[in-house]
Amino acid sequence: MKKITIAIDGFSSTGKSTVAKQLAKALGYVYVDSGAMYRAVTYYAMQNDIISNDSFNVEKLISELNEVKICFKYNDRLGFAEVYLNGINVEKEVRTLEVSQWVSKVAEISEVRKMLVRQQQQMGQEKGVVMDGRDIGTVVFPDAELKLFMTASAETRAKRRYKELLERNEKVSYEDVLSNVESRDLIDSTREDSPLIKADDAIEIDNSNLNLEEQFEKLYNLAQNAINHQ
Ligand code: DC
Repeated sequence: MKKITIAIDGFSSTGKSTVAKQLAKALGYVYVDSGAMYRAVTYYAMQNDIISNDSFNVEKLISELNEVKICFKYNDRLGFAEVYLNGINVEKEVRTLEVSQWVSKVAEISEVRKMLVRQQQQMGQEKGVVMDGRDIGTVVFPDAELKLFMTASAETRAKRRYKELLERNEKVSYEDVLSNVESRDLIDSTREDSPLIKADDAIEIDNSNLNLEEQFEKLYNLAQNAINHQ
């Protein structure tokens, strides 16, 4: 059976990664969380005096980009690949609200995008990959056999994110999470380089009223259909 490329794009907290992981597992494909790569660059900037308090030294980040080495290593126990920054597992560190507050600013920088897009394309060379992000169907894999565009209301997404952060014992308020979701939506969809837009040939899935099983079933059928028709 020939393998295909599955691109999943959409606003933050639309549950892209949950369903991407489920699909990759069911199909025996590799899952790549491209957002984790932008988050890892952001975390690097926070750790290296590039981002501190309210200031962000963009030039310094660009000049240090070749020192930022990102990779994924599969964790058998968790059943997915975790993100590593310069050899250190930062899967947990890149998910904090502080990183979320800066990551869209980092993702606006063309030099960062160029570097990460190149790495993402390499990871997908052999096909058999499910990658989620904002520009996967438009920029990274414009020829992907299946493109999905996930949506849900900002409130639904903020509630999901808030619950996740509470489960990780982060001290946050629902209002802060909602405002972060809304401001990231705005920056992600209005930035100049590779804004979040639905590819013409992407299938839009609004999952505000779908539970996880319903959503998985729907997307798994779409994937099987795409595999059978190539
Ligand atoms: O999917 P996420 O919330 O973990 O992504 C974090 C940020 O990274 C998001 O605000 C936008 C950016 N991003 C991007 O610009 N392009 C991608 N392919 C993936 C993420």
